[in-house]
Amino acid sequence: MYMRHSVVTGLGIQLPKRVMTNAEMSKLVDTTDEWIVERTGIRQRYIAGDDERTSDLAIGAARAALADAGTDAGEIDLIIVATSTPDNTFPATATAVQAGLGITHGAAFDVQAVCSGFVYALTVADSFIRCGQAHNVLVIGAETFSRILDWQDRTTCVLFGDGAGAVVVKGYEAGQAPGDRGIIACKLRSDGRHKEKLYVDGGPSSTGTVGYLRMEGREVFKHAVTNIASVMQETMDEAGVGVADIDLFVPHQANVRILDGTARKLGIDPDRVVVTVDKHGNTSAASIPLALGEAKAQGRLHRGDLVLLEAMGGGFTWGAVLLRW
Ligand code: UT7
Repeated sequence: MYMRHSVVTGLGIQLPKRVMTNAEMSKLVDTTDEWIVERTGIRQRYIAGDDERTSDLAIGAARAALADAGTDAGEIDLIIVATSTPDNTFPATATAVQAGLGITHGAAFDVQAVCSGFVYALTVADSFIRCGQAHNVLVIGAETFSRILDWQDRTTCVLFGDGAGAVVVKGYEAGQAPGDRGIIACKLRSDGRHKEKLYVDGGPSSTGTVGYLRMEGREVFKHAVTNIASVMQETMDEAGVGVADIDLFVPHQANVRILDGTARKLGIDPDRVVVTVDKHGNTSAASIPLALGEAKAQGRLHRGDLVLLEAMGGGFTWGAVLLRW
């Protein structure tokens, strides 16, 4: 039995200034608003300007999360940034966030699990808290995927967007958490046999270039619903809860058809699924905290709610986190 317990105490988001609609996209590549909406559910996405780096979005989201939690930056002893679009190959974007927040103690590092990054980072934070290595953790999903898109490839460039979301995760001694709030179960999975189905065709040790995102969309789609549904079920089983007990499902936002397919497979009422892919596109590691932010702004996320997060992305990686909000 673990001694300590992780509770999400604050949430913040930051979106870039510029919105790009499907109509604008159709001026760049051979596509239409109808195709994008019908195949993906996406209507617009946010695109970071030259003055908006991944760390800038991450810092904005982190400040908002700290304010929401009523936590001073000085109390943070660990920063984890989930990103596949870091400011630089190194150092970790998390160190830029640390400096930006004026924090000089504790530790900061990045986690790279592409679209599953936020679920991975939250699981790492929970583990650090449970074993007493950290007490107040900032977990941030932040991306500028627009920088790694091939803007001539209509099969990928219409799908992704930029943004950041952050949560403050606080450690409590057993029995001290307010109500029965906190992270209940986490499950992470990966299967590297599929690493070439969704990848970036560059990198420091291969081409020496940054590269562009490449995806076999249909292949990824084929695995998505099965993988996501199975890891959600395993997570619920471990906690001894069922679909009917979950107040809110907050999935990674890749394609509305994947969200619908997963909901159908598990018998989830669509009213309990948060959908933001229409507004944000696929923002990779940022999509879950952005969706949490949207749900909160709409009054759909309440203290004490049982919430299930899930994601799947390049690698393949996938995973789920069950928590009482
Ligand atoms: O977040 C990480 C995980 N990522 C995902 O989960 C993405 C998973 N994949 C998907 O969401 C979908 O597979 C896509 C949205 C990427 C594609 O949808 P699809 O229904 O699987 O379409 P498709 O790739 O089978 O393409 C259908 C047709 C093709 O034309 P033909 O070969 O049938 O003549 C494509 O060339 O649609 C064409 N097409 C487009 N047409 C207009 C592909 N992209 C576009 C486009 N505009 N942007």
